[in-house]
Amino acid sequence: MTQIDSLHYTKEERRIFTVVKEIAQSQNIPTYVIGGFVRDKIIGRPSKDIDFVVVGDGIALAKEVAKQFKNAHFSFYKNFGTAAISFQDFDLEFVGARKESYSRNSRNPIVEQGSLRDDQLRRDFTINALAISLNKEDEGAILDPFNGIEDLKQKRIVTPLNPQQTFDDDPLRMLRAIRFANQLNFEIDGQTLKAIKQLAKRIDIVAPERIVEEIHKILLTKRPSKGFKLLYNTGLLHHFLPEISNLQGVESKQGQRHKDNFYHTLEVVDNLCEHSNDLWLRWAALLHDIGKPSTKRFDEQAGWTFHAHDVVGAKMVTKLFKRLHLPQNEKMRYVKKLVRLHLRPIGLAKEEVSDSAIRRLLFDAGDDIDDLMTLCEADITSKNEYKVEKYLRNFQIVREKLIEVEQKDKIRNWEPPISGDEIMTTFGIKPSRTVGLIKNAIREAILDGEIENNYDSAYQFMLSIANELNLQPK
Ligand code: CTP
Repeated sequence: MTQIDSLHYTKEERRIFTVVKEIAQSQNIPTYVIGGFVRDKIIGRPSKDIDFVVVGDGIALAKEVAKQFKNAHFSFYKNFGTAAISFQDFDLEFVGARKESYSRNSRNPIVEQGSLRDDQLRRDFTINALAISLNKEDEGAILDPFNGIEDLKQKRIVTPLNPQQTFDDDPLRMLRAIRFANQLNFEIDGQTLKAIKQLAKRIDIVAPERIVEEIHKILLTKRPSKGFKLLYNTGLLHHFLPEISNLQGVESKQGQRHKDNFYHTLEVVDNLCEHSNDLWLRWAALLHDIGKPSTKRFDEQAGWTFHAHDVVGAKMVTKLFKRLHLPQNEKMRYVKKLVRLHLRPIGLAKEEVSDSAIRRLLFDAGDDIDDLMTLCEADITSKNEYKVEKYLRNFQIVREKLIEVEQKDKIRNWEPPISGDEIMTTFGIKPSRTVGLIKNAIREAILDGEIENNYDSAYQFMLSIANELNLQPK
């Protein structure tokens, strides 16, 4: 039994524990705080999710607890023997101690009651099996049968049981091991890592939503590359993100090598994470080059090319999002857009930038232009510092130009200065291809800088285009 006196609880946490403890003690029900909250408390990581394990009826206890809190929301799942209370910004979960594996997302209800030790044994990692007693005889003691505290000190992810069994109980835990290693900057114990490599294929039985939850947690760390390298090296990545694992590899022809696009991608993701916490922008960084493997060619003159990998990659995003049950909404369209446009600013940074190229980029990127620029800057991963600086300087020029042209021409949220309706009434025509032709011609003329982006210029231009089409105003 370990007592960590230095654990510091907030006022709200103390209040919650006091309420739970008093009810549990008065009814003589052994109750413990367990799992992530204990782990995070010991390493000083804030957490608002508190799990309680109850040797007895967890739902009944939770019901009593909920009554003590004003405006608490109580819910329970009889089949799973779990109950949840949301209270202020806390999520409290109560579960009866169980003999079988703990998996809150498992579809099979698991009801066989067990002791605290049984329950701890069937949890994923020693660092997640720590419990704090709320009972009279040893109140406040940390119950640590598998040396979880030592593993926290050694920064080690290790399973309490034989890893084969722990992962067999719930294969998602293989991903959780990697996610925790990445989030906490821990290392995975050798035997545990070996078991992940052996059992990687079993990840196929896990629901995409659960996998995605872990990918998101990895993507939201400070340096996701650590997690993705582990996912790749264990063979897990190939099962759910083959588009990323297929980026790995370098080919050489006539003494010319292309870069390894997997490690390049990870560098881009890490770079981007220094500048943005946005999950979907991080997805865009992860996926920006997925079109490369299928577009790779070797050309005698040009060497290795990945022609149109931006367009091909953007198309692949749709399939990938569908397969992983990721949102099929504006989030997906945003990621696709950035993948499709990710080469455009680089093109502009290399040469003298014309206003019309800038206007076209503003038109295509709209309000996502700043994110696109952030992605493109993260995409510079050359080892040559001189080159990196040169590109960054050029990008700075592009950014300045974008501001200048936007102020002048207002292209970012561009609305056609003349609507289709107005074209139809002006020339007395019905909805037709001609209306589209005129609208497009106006837009192109504005983007090319032939006319100004305002009503009068557009109107005059419309008349001249219509004239060429033998149309006269009515
Ligand atoms: N757990 C487990 N196996 C799983 C999921 C969860 O053994 N597949 C156990 C662990 O003891 C874990 C606890 O359930 O600590 C709570 O799970 P969860 O809330 O998902 O994770 P946390 O450890 O709290 O960490 P985080 O909140 O960062 O996900």
